[in-house]
Amino acid sequence: MDSLPDDPFALFNEWFEQAKKSEINDPNAMALATCTKDGKPSVRMILLKDFGEKGFKFHTNAESQKGHELDENAHAALCFHWKTLRKQVRIEGRVIMAPIEEADEYYKDRPYMRKIGAHASAQSRPLESREHLEQKLEELQKQYPEGSDIPRPSYWVGYYVVPEKIEFWWDNPDRLHDRIAYSKAPNGEWTQKRLYP
Ligand SMILES: Cc1cc2nc3c(=O)[nH]c(=O)nc-3n(C[C@H](O)[C@H](O)[C@H](O)COP(=O)(O)O)c2cc1C
Repeated sequence: MDSLPDDPFALFNEWFEQAKKSEINDPNAMALATCTKDGKPSVRMILLKDFGEKGFKFHTNAESQKGHELDENAHAALCFHWKTLRKQVRIEGRVIMAPIEEADEYYKDRPYMRKIGAHASAQSRPLESREHLEQKLEELQKQYPEGSDIPRPSYWVGYYVVPEKIEFWWDNPDRLHDRIAYSKAPNGEWTQKRLYP
């Protein structure tokens, strides 16, 4: 890869399109790292739902561990690893909540059981038994039969990681891998530099 686009989103899009063709599942899976205000990190996989200048978007429960950490510390990092491509993308930036209209739009298009599941799951909090969850699901299915209007739980929201840095890593047979890091200048322009592997 000799000349890289000036726009990191163009390169991300190119790699993501390749990953969609080659990964056996979830090419949009990414690790999300968040941190408490006193610097204790945590990480988990989530799914990318959209990306562009506005940021890299995911949807989750705002009352989960990650949601609480983002309330305390609105900085996060994302990492994609596409094994079939031997490529990695790392993203760092500030996190903002998506407008509620976007959360509504996303929730509206979820399959029935996922909507019910969002109501049933107090994500990240202790659950006394699997049966307890199943009972909650059953009750919710009675309350909201299939085809009825199911409101979005207020805590089921979208977040954007607004990137300040995007680093692209790709494998080389000699193990001297390539790393190109894009940084966003205060004027909004992206610059790129090569890093030692
Ligand atoms: C491939 C994969 C994709 C996932 N996607 C999401 C997602 O988009 N949103 C979400 O809330 N959890 C998702 N999860 C579950 C999270 O990894 C995690 O268990 C959950 O969000 C609770 O995380 P927390 O306790 O750190 O907040 C996914 C898990 C896997 C393995």
